[in-house]
Amino acid sequence: MQRWSRRKTHFPVLALFFSVFIVASILYNERNIRKIHDRKEEQQVPIRDSTLLTSVPSKVSSKHKPIVAAASLDRFTKCDSTRKFHGRRTETVYQKLDSSQRREKQHRCDLFSGKWVFDNTSYPLYDESRCPYMSDQLACHKHGRTDLGYQNWRWQPHDCNLKRWNATEMWEKLRGKRLMFVGDSLNRGQWISMVCLLQSVIPVDKRSMSPNAPLTIFRAEEYNATVEFYWAPLLVESNSDDPVNHRLNDRIMRPDSVFKHASEWEKADILIFNTYLWWRQGPIKLLWSDEESGICEELDGVGAMELAMEAWADWVASKVNPLKKKVFFVTMSPTHLWSREWAPGTEGNCYQENNPIDMEGYWGSGSDLPTMRMVDKVVDRLRSKVSVLNITQLSEYRKDGHPSIYRKFWESLSPQQLSNPASYADCIHWCLPGVPDVWNELLFNSL
Ligand SMILES: *[C@@H]1O[C@H](CO)[C@@H](O)[C@H](O)[C@H]1NC(C)=O
Ligand SMILES: *[C@@H]1O[C@H](CO)[C@@H](O)[C@H](O)[C@H]1NC(C)=O
Ligand SMILES: *[C@@H]1O[C@H](CO)[C@@H](O)[C@H](O)[C@H]1NC(C)=O
Ligand SMILES: *[C@@H]1O[C@H](CO)[C@@H](O)[C@H](O)[C@H]1NC(C)=O
Repeated sequence: MQRWSRRKTHFPVLALFFSVFIVASILYNERNIRKIHDRKEEQQVPIRDSTLLTSVPSKVSSKHKPIVAAASLDRFTKCDSTRKFHGRRTETVYQKLDSSQRREKQHRCDLFSGKWVFDNTSYPLYDESRCPYMSDQLACHKHGRTDLGYQNWRWQPHDCNLKRWNATEMWEKLRGKRLMFVGDSLNRGQWISMVCLLQSVIPVDKRSMSPNAPLTIFRAEEYNATVEFYWAPLLVESNSDDPVNHRLNDRIMRPDSVFKHASEWEKADILIFNTYLWWRQGPIKLLWSDEESGICEELDGVGAMELAMEAWADWVASKVNPLKKKVFFVTMSPTHLWSREWAPGTEGNCYQENNPIDMEGYWGSGSDLPTMRMVDKVVDRLRSKVSVLNITQLSEYRKDGHPSIYRKFWESLSPQQLSNPASYADCIHWCLPGVPDVWNELLFNSL
C-alpha cells in the first residue's frame, strides 16, 4: 500500500492552469507544468541531456536504425522534416462498414439527459480518506477543500431512475474478467473512482495494486477480476506514451497504428476509452508507419483526432467480437476555465464555485462541437460494437466539481500565484468522490 501511494505521485498531471490568461492554444503545453511529477523520478531517470540527442546527426541515426513499419515511437522520436498534411486516408475495415446497416435506435431511456439532485443521504458513495488508492491530484478534502457539497449530487435522468450503485453486484459482473480503462488523465480519474467504488468490499489481503506503467492493474482475488488503467492519451501510438515523461514540445503520432497498444486491449473483456483534451493544444505531427525517411506531416487537432479515432475504429471494427468484448467510448470531459460563460460579467474560473449550473442545456466553449460531431460520426458507424458514455452535457453542469486549488501541486507556487488563487486552479480534472463516480454509475447501468 505504502509503495503504491508513493508510486502514484509519479503520475503526471495532464495539465494545469497557472494563469487564467493562458490561451487555449497552449492548453496542454506541459512546459508550463515542468517538474510536476515526483522530483525523485527526475533523479532516478535523468532527463537526457539535449546534446545527447543532437550529437547524433539524424541522418546517421536513421541509417543505423531505420524507422520500420510500426516501429514504436518514444519521447526521443524526431521528425527529420515536416510538411502539410496531404489528405491521406487508409482504406480500412472501418471505412468499408456500411453505415446504412446500423441498428435501429433503441427506444430506451436516455440516461444522459437529466438533472443533478442534492442528495446527502446516499452520496458520497465512499469516503475519500478510506480509499487507499486515492490520488493526491483528486483528493480535494484532504487538500483543504471545506465546502463538501460537490460530493453530494446524484444524477437523475428525466425519464427513468438509475439502478443504485452496488459494489458486490458490479464485482459479479466483473467476475473472471478484465476491465480496462484506456486514455488520458481524465480517464485515469474515472479508473481511480472505479477502484475506490469497488475496493471496500474486498478484504485487504485479497486485493492488490501493481503499478506497472503504462498499464496499472487492480486485482481482486476472489472474483479473479481486474480493474486496469492503460495510458494512451492519443489512442494511437505517439511520442507521449510514457505515462511519466511526456513533457514534449511536439506531439508526434502514428495516425495509422494502434498495434502496440492494441496488444494490451486485446486481453481485456470490457474496455473504456477516452481521448479529447490532448488534441486541444494545437497542431500535431503525423508520422505514417510506412514513412521511412522521417518526414512528418502536420495537422490541426480535430483533424488529427479524427485520424486517430479512425485508426481506433478500424481496430474495433476488425478485432472486436461484441459477444466477447464490450467497448465503451467516453465523450469529452468539460472544463470550467471562464466563469463569464455561466456568470456573464465575471472574470474567474471554477475557483470558489460550489454549486452546479442549473441552466438546462448549458454548454461551455471548452466542449468543442465540431469534435463532438466527428465523434458522433465515428461511433455511429460502430454502433453494434461500441456504446457511448455521453458524459459531456451532464458534466458541463458541474463547475463545482473540479479540484481548483485543493489538490497537491508538485511545483512550488510563487507568491504571485498564491495571491491570486484562480491563476493556478485546476478546472480540468475532477475531485473524488465526485463527478467521475457518476460516470461509473452510468457504466454500471450500461453493463
Ligand atoms: C443534508 O443537507 C441538509 C440540507 O442542506 C442538512 O440540513 C442536513 O443536515 C444534511 N445532512 C447530512 C447528513 O449532512
Ligand atoms: C447488492 O448486490 C448483491 C449481489 O447481487 C445482493 O446480494 C445485495 O442484496 C445487493 N445489495 C443491495 C443493498 O441492494
Ligand atoms: C481468471 O480469469 C482469466 C481471464 O481474465 C481466465 O483466463 C482464468 O482462467 C480465470 N481463472 C480462474 C481460476 O477462474
Ligand atoms: C452526446 O450528447 C450530446 C447532447 O448532450 C449530443 O449532441 C451528441 O450527439 C451525443 N454524442 C454521442 C456520441 O452520442
